[in-house]
Amino acid sequence: MPRYEIRIQNTDETYVCTDTRTLLEGMEALARRGIPVGCRGGGCGVCKVRIEAGAVRTEKMSRCHVSESDEAAGVVLACRAYPVSDVQLRAIDAMARCVERGPKDSFLDAARRAQRPTL
Ligand code: FES
Repeated sequence: MPRYEIRIQNTDETYVCTDTRTLLEGMEALARRGIPVGCRGGGCGVCKVRIEAGAVRTEKMSRCHVSESDEAAGVVLACRAYPVSDVQLRAIDAMARCVERGPKDSFLDAARRAQRPTL
């Protein structure tokens, strides 16, 4: 089963994702805060990303959230997109706000800010 490296440009994080997992499932495996989990079915639009490099195959996406021109510009819903090569993506809209805020709000960073020892 092919495995691809996915880079989230907003945070410069990378993860490995097989061609049988969606980009969102791979992100969730990072197990950190800031990854929004919505409907996971292409209907809510919370997981919108733009593919900056590489290729994905997609399943049906709501046109309410990804217009044909968006899709032509590389915008996809991460819960409906599977990598078919290494991919560089940029989280956009609500997804960007969550991803970019996530690491700062993690338990570890909050503990560091409070200058308390962590376990
Ligand atoms: S999680 Fe709802 S559209 Fe992706």
